[in-house]
Amino acid sequence: MCGIVAILSRPGSRPTPSAEELLGALDSAVHASTVAGSPAVTLACMAAEAAVADALLRGVPGVRALADRPSLVAAIEARLDQLDAFVAGELVRIARGGARIVVSIGGTSLEEYVRMTSALQGRPEVAAIEIHLSGPDDELDRPVLGAHPDRLNEIVGAVARMSLVPVFAKLPGASDDIVTLARTAVRAGATGVTLLASPPALGLDITRDRPRIGTVRGWLSGPALKPITLRAVFDVAQAVPGVPVIASGGIRTGEDAVECLLAGAWAVQVGTATLTDPAAAVTVAQGIVRRLKAARLASPVELRGRLRPQEPAGADADPVPAP
Ligand SMILES: Cc1cc2nc3c(=O)[nH]c(=O)nc-3n(C[C@H](O)[C@H](O)[C@H](O)COP(=O)(O)O)c2cc1C
Repeated sequence: MCGIVAILSRPGSRPTPSAEELLGALDSAVHASTVAGSPAVTLACMAAEAAVADALLRGVPGVRALADRPSLVAAIEARLDQLDAFVAGELVRIARGGARIVVSIGGTSLEEYVRMTSALQGRPEVAAIEIHLSGPDDELDRPVLGAHPDRLNEIVGAVARMSLVPVFAKLPGASDDIVTLARTAVRAGATGVTLLASPPALGLDITRDRPRIGTVRGWLSGPALKPITLRAVFDVAQAVPGVPVIASGGIRTGEDAVECLLAGAWAVQVGTATLTDPAAAVTVAQGIVRRLKAARLASPVELRGRLRPQEPAGADADPVPAP
């Protein structure tokens, strides 16, 4: 028998990360877990720091960094165990308070989504999974992973088949055909959709000639998004009635939430508003209750989808004559 072994390599564009860089990023993630604050912000900070280490460890540079260095591997594992223990503890603590926990997962490859779904399978506190699909697609080299029905179908299908709890697809905010994406997600196994993820944006601070959002490009969130949210919610609710729609984008008050319900939403998310007021979601819920009482309605369900397309102007005054 004879075999030919070919070792193919592509010149790496990244240097091999040092132990200090790797452990520094993970130490920052562990440190973030010790800073007091809202769990959502703490977890987001931890995730951002851990993502730095993850990016450093990708590909050949990552393999080189870890090869023949068992003490570095052990040090990394110890920090990952600390992060895992923190997340597990937070899930238990939040669930004990009576909250239903929806975990948002986001990735840049099918493998990442599968790994995250698998990690959540052993967490009884998790009531549902929301799939964030607006990151870049590293495997197919596309800027927005969920903007393509083929990829949306693949990712949502994989997560929905693995998940033991309902799955919601959070659709990209810059799509020009949100109805097709919503239909695709539901056909792939999503219980419902969240509309919308933040669209890409750019802001400038002209006093310092510096970006205002992100490092240069960023993501738009807050009040400016509400009309876009309402339009997407209305279009999808009309096109796929019966599919749960969660509205996200620009909701700060009970009135904002009621508008979303009237457009067809089953529930709303409150994002940016919680950064300035951690109790914003409570304020929004109280606002909905006030509106229900004023209208003598028993449940938000009675507001859902009440918005109807208007008849063309003058339709009543000048009806088409009967044949
Ligand atoms: C600081 C910050 C962190 C966010 N992190 C996530 C996230 O991890 N996953 C996600 O799906 N959306 C995330 N978002 C987007 C929000 O969930 C939401 O879709 C968007 O901000 C629009 O809603 P808003 O106007 O209420 O903020 C984040 C938004 C902000 C401002």
